[in-house]
Amino acid sequence: MSPRQTPPLLLSRVRPYGEGDPVDVLVVDGRIAAIGPDAGADAPDGTETHDLGGAVLLPGFVDLHTHLREPGREDTETIATGSAAAVRGGYTAVFAMANTQPAQDNQTVTDSVWRIGREVGLCDVHPVGAVTVGLKGEQLTEMGQMASGEAGVRIFSDDGMCVYDPLIMRRALEYSAGLGVLVAQHAEEPRLTRGAVAHEGPTAARLGLTGWPRSAEESIVARDAILARDAGARVHICHASTTGTVELLTWAKGQGIAITAEVTPHHLLLDDTRLETYDGVYRVNPPLREEHDTLALRRALVEGVIDCVATDHAPHAAQEKCCEFAAARPGMLGLETALPIVASLLVETGDMTWRDLARVMSTRPAEIAGLTDQGRPIEVGEPANLAAVDPDSEWTVVGEELASLSANTPYEGMSFSARVVGTVYRGRLVSRDGEVVA
Ligand code: NCD
Ligand code: ZN
Repeated sequence: MSPRQTPPLLLSRVRPYGEGDPVDVLVVDGRIAAIGPDAGADAPDGTETHDLGGAVLLPGFVDLHTHLREPGREDTETIATGSAAAVRGGYTAVFAMANTQPAQDNQTVTDSVWRIGREVGLCDVHPVGAVTVGLKGEQLTEMGQMASGEAGVRIFSDDGMCVYDPLIMRRALEYSAGLGVLVAQHAEEPRLTRGAVAHEGPTAARLGLTGWPRSAEESIVARDAILARDAGARVHICHASTTGTVELLTWAKGQGIAITAEVTPHHLLLDDTRLETYDGVYRVNPPLREEHDTLALRRALVEGVIDCVATDHAPHAAQEKCCEFAAARPGMLGLETALPIVASLLVETGDMTWRDLARVMSTRPAEIAGLTDQGRPIEVGEPANLAAVDPDSEWTVVGEELASLSANTPYEGMSFSARVVGTVYRGRLVSRDGEVVA
């Protein structure tokens, strides 16, 4: 549907960035037309009005790391169900990782994911292109073709797998710099993680689980920072998980290296003591680390050493999670719980303002991806991609009630105070009070 066919929308009683008294925001033809206590007075005939009761209004969130499982594992998530989960979580743009079956390693697949995302029409779905054919780490893909196709692929990643060969990574970075696209690295030196299922430390030792050392991540982060420097390229680090990675990012940024990084809500909130239950729901790559890592990651996000939050939403079927810990597939759901977690850890504690949260969940990820119509300020004339958040709407997570086709949330039964109560995508209200309405 083009924005022209969308009726005007009046969001009444919202507080942009949680600042000041509630105002009304009028949206016409997909853009913000008026903001103020009397913005409703200018509303044209046929305007749809929604009273948000003083909710915090933020730019719609942008997720640089989502697994949508289509094509190949539509039993666990589809572009449609993942888009529904996204907008219930306040996301108006998601980057769908390339580890589908078949992989998103050629233009036919990336363009098809893009087109299905458009047909679903709930949020922008940007396919991530694979760096290497079949994510095998051996032969570079035709990045240029994917970038110039309909999907206009701008992020490339073998996520799930590391581009471990330094020569292949060097060439990928050189090629990406020429194309003006970004390589996002799943930093895991595979020689150090063979058979690993948990963070290497006292908990894994006690539980008898094979350990994934921090050095497996940090050695790749250090290597790739140096490779990016010498290639004159940008590089993005997926799901940073250790204190040492934070130190390396601080060093690299201090050197002027064009490195950016994301952190997941689960690495901010959870540590490896959760594994005491041997519940496969806590298995994830990289693994949950120790408390000091979670604290360093939070501080790094506040200080801008880590640029943004990305969900690493990773749906898995029940039979792939409810089994022996070491046999469980790594990954956890994230789209519908990201905002409540970041708000509870950083805004409710006073470490961040709502404006800071908008930076790490919307503005910075949009900038990193080079999006021009997402992550924009809430101002007249700007595209209306918005998320409304009720900071005091106590709710309890129930996996079965999430929009995702899978239910592998590690937050089952946990309560949070903040919740997304409305999402506007291209001027259309697409979710309201936890339900998809479009
Ligand atoms: C992801 C998945 O399931 O695709 N799993 C995970 O544990 N994070 C892959 C990934 O992001 O590495
Ligand atoms: Zn990954």
